[in-house]
Amino acid sequence: MTLLRVIDRDGIEHEVDATTGITLMENLRDLDYGVGAICGGMCACATCHVYVDADWQGKLPAAQSDETDLLRDLSTHRENSRLSCQVKFTPDLSGLRVEIAPDE
Ligand code: FES
Repeated sequence: MTLLRVIDRDGIEHEVDATTGITLMENLRDLDYGVGAICGGMCACATCHVYVDADWQGKLPAAQSDETDLLRDLSTHRENSRLSCQVKFTPDLSGLRVEIAPDE
């Protein structure tokens, strides 16, 4: 099991048996409480916005400028914001904890 911890918009934490080798967004969009991911991972909609737990922030690859530009325009942007479509879920991220950001 590759563990992914997901806090939904009601503040409830779920433990998900996630798939590696695909993006975090692809793991989240099929969940009832997951992300919309309207653009399908093209870094164009920000409906895959999540907050990354502080303990995990430094373990993710750095965001590229197209991701940071999109995030910066969100009213819900925080220092730990990421677009889940831009993060590949790899085995070393087992245990990752993210919170689904509010809708814009
Ligand atoms: S799915 Fe649209 S920006 Fe991530």
